[in-house]
Amino acid sequence: MHPLLSEDQELFRRTVREFADNEIAPVAAEHDEAEQYPADNVRKMGELGLMGLTVPHEYGGAGVGSMEYALAMEEVSRACAAHSVILTVNVSLVCEPIYKYGTEEQRRRFLPRLTTAEMIGSYCLSEPSSGSDARHMETRAERDGDEYILNGAKNWITNGGVSGVYLVYAATDPQGGRISAFLVEADRPGLRPGAKEKKLGIRASSTTQVFLEDCRVPVANRLGEEGDGFKIAMQTLDGGRIGVAAQALGIAQAAYEASVAYARERQAFGHAIADFQGIQWMLADMATRIECARLLVYTAAQLKDRGEPFSKQSSMAKLYASETAMWVTTKAVQVHGGYGYSREYAVQRYFRDAKITEIYEGTSEIQRMVIARHILREGTEYASGSRAAGAPA
Ligand code: CAA
Repeated sequence: MHPLLSEDQELFRRTVREFADNEIAPVAAEHDEAEQYPADNVRKMGELGLMGLTVPHEYGGAGVGSMEYALAMEEVSRACAAHSVILTVNVSLVCEPIYKYGTEEQRRRFLPRLTTAEMIGSYCLSEPSSGSDARHMETRAERDGDEYILNGAKNWITNGGVSGVYLVYAATDPQGGRISAFLVEADRPGLRPGAKEKKLGIRASSTTQVFLEDCRVPVANRLGEEGDGFKIAMQTLDGGRIGVAAQALGIAQAAYEASVAYARERQAFGHAIADFQGIQWMLADMATRIECARLLVYTAAQLKDRGEPFSKQSSMAKLYASETAMWVTTKAVQVHGGYGYSREYAVQRYFRDAKITEIYEGTSEIQRMVIARHILREGTEYASGSRAAGAPA
């Protein structure tokens, strides 16, 4: 048991691991190979409460904190990162902002279905010509009486084509300076998901473009006030980055465990390769870096649970855990030698899946930018910063 976890948290972690080992791990490779969305398992994740982890019970959620959410993300990702991206987008990027910024009517309309996986959600911020520079978007929402008319295109949308609701960011002024957020149901005329992207990793998840063509959305579907969209997007990503950090941690953990097992079993020069110092040092470095990443994830999650600012720590956790996942999975392929390069072995999937964690929900370069801005604004004390002070946890 990890020394920073309570007994209840450890029990929770074991419960999710058992589910992931029994239901997700056995089908992960075939879903990856076929690039097939794991609809049955998403339904099961909904039944277990994983799809609405941090949402209070009254809206159908599991009502747990960010620590438990991070633990669940690590365990699901250890089995399959394609499953966990479906989960993290639904929980962190869709349910959480609806709960925090939504009206009571919006909460009741969307959350009970999202938390049970009766409906899945998507977060639509990036566009064909803007990813890191999220503020400069071309999608527009023009007010027309009690409705907005949305036009534009969104890129790299996780759960695109399988979502029931898309959280779309669009500028509500012609210059594009005032961004607002909208909950757009999948069946609204004018919303059209594009073809499924062919990806390097997390291949079982569905990623598409989303097109908005004169898509009429009632004012009652605007999330938060007009012009609040960018802050909603950024605060939401602060939380989402804890999820991606925990995802990277789970991928790294899986690759490390596979490497230890293989090193014990594989013989070379009359010995198990685990007897050689060159392999031992790789295993030791994997274990140490993974534990550092885990501590950063736990710190960010605990700050969020305490209602304290956590933006800098979630960026640190995401930066370090994702780069650790890439490093560990690269070494894991090396430990496995030629077998590591074969699609018969899981390490190549971990290696392919790890890469996206350095890219989505803000690239490593953006995380460094966010961390540096905190340092230069707030100084070098441990204090985690004031930007999110007063913001809902
Ligand atoms: N919390 C609250 N407010 C914030 C904030 C935060 N974390 N970050 C910025 N803001 C506020 C600022 O205070 C500022 O407010 P004022 O105008 O009132 O002063 C405003 O937002 C603009 O802030 P910046 O000047 O810092 O904005 P910027 O244009 O320089 O951009 C950025 C900042 C950090 C680079 C941001 O654009 C960013 O995070 N980019 C990366 C986007 C990203 O992560 N995309 C991922 C796509 S989603 C995805 O991957 C989902 C998926 O499907 C898996």
